[in-house]
Amino acid sequence: MSERTLVMLKPDTVARGLVGRVIQRIEDRGFRIAGLKILRLTYEQTFELYRIHEKKPFFNDLVSHITSGAVIVIVVEGLNAITAMRQLAGSTNPLEADLGSVRGTFGLNGTINAIHTADGLENAKREIGLFFGLDEIVKY
Ligand code: CMP
Repeated sequence: MSERTLVMLKPDTVARGLVGRVIQRIEDRGFRIAGLKILRLTYEQTFELYRIHEKKPFFNDLVSHITSGAVIVIVVEGLNAITAMRQLAGSTNPLEADLGSVRGTFGLNGTINAIHTADGLENAKREIGLFFGLDEIVKY
């Protein structure tokens, strides 16, 4: 089934000049880019994106990293995009991620881990809505 998901290239990916290489992997896997923006997220936007993690011990580190520099938010579209993008991203901790995954290749630790992808249908819809209006998403 064709799905849309929200992918975010984190500040470490932008700062290290890895944007093109990560997007290449997304396109290599057969997905289309239906929306794309470069943003500097505020604390409030970051809190909204990650509010389910508010009580987690890593929350402050997470917010501090995400607000430390520019991010790229992308609407990725294609067959089983939500599950497939999570597979392409790899496990949260780069030490546990497959070597061929984005985090296994580019991630530095559990916080500085290159990429975020929505973890299910509801969150994909919610997260896309945080960053994109309907008129900002291309229909192929
Ligand atoms: P992401 O896919 O952006 O969604 C939540 C983020 O919280 C996750 O990637 C990590 O960057 C971060 N995170 C999750 N678990 C941990 C952890 N145990 N330690 C540090 N950061 C974590």
